[in-house]
Amino acid sequence: MSLKEKLNAEKLPRHIAIIMDGNGRWAKEKGKDRLFGHYNGVESVRNIVEGCAELQIEYLTLYAFSTENWDRPKDEVTGLMELLVKTIRTEVSTLNKNNIRLHVIGNIDLLPENAQKELNEACEETKSNTGLNLIMALSYSSRWEIVNAVKNIGKEIKNGKIEPNEITDEVFKQHLCTAGFPDPELMIRTSGEYRISNFLLYQLAYSELYFTETLWPDFRKENLYKALLDYQTRERRFGKTSEQL
Ligand code: IPE
Ligand code: IPE
Ligand code: MG
Repeated sequence: MSLKEKLNAEKLPRHIAIIMDGNGRWAKEKGKDRLFGHYNGVESVRNIVEGCAELQIEYLTLYAFSTENWDRPKDEVTGLMELLVKTIRTEVSTLNKNNIRLHVIGNIDLLPENAQKELNEACEETKSNTGLNLIMALSYSSRWEIVNAVKNIGKEIKNGKIEPNEITDEVFKQHLCTAGFPDPELMIRTSGEYRISNFLLYQLAYSELYFTETLWPDFRKENLYKALLDYQTRERRFGKTSEQL
């Protein structure tokens, strides 16, 4: 029986979030520069997006570039931005063919103008697709997102649109970049780092976390199935006792 066949189709998450980490180390192991790792990481993105679409997962969020990543060496940042523009341009037709809708979360205003344009066009051109929602976190960090939400709620209070005591979990969520998306049930991080690195801090409150030593450019569908099989063994109690479930 293949790993895929072992999966319980009734117990798949609706939303998977992934911190795609380890491109630089993967390249270094091969004596190449960091950008070589990023180029190869794109193949993993294709493979995992396809894998999620095949499993009829509804949402996949990929952490591709953090607010803090802007502080990397200039050459790496420029190379990553060029890779981003090139990849979106070539992938839109595949997204449409596979009924995948692209969304972007993060401080997009900071991206180079051509990247913003490509992203906006790709989101627009895929907006009628009804299959997998592919959410790219770019120039994203959760503290930025949360502070931004607070600012916007503050403005709404000032304009008399909402009263402070009307702010609920639901209202707050509506002000995050992920408004309208369910919280991820599963968060995967590759490359053997055991941290969240400013990713979806609010949304991951009750997510199951899965860490693997595999570096992102080596992460393929089989690795995804392994993570999902592990997820399916977890008991999600949400604060209750086992007996109450
Ligand atoms: C993840 O790989 C991709 C980005 C953060 C853009 P890294 O570039 O962080 O690779 P390592 O962690 O240095 O190996
Ligand atoms: C997190 O990886 C960000 C992305 C994968 C885009 P980093 O490599 O930037 O995280 P740290 O610095 O190891 O925490
Ligand atoms: Mg890293």
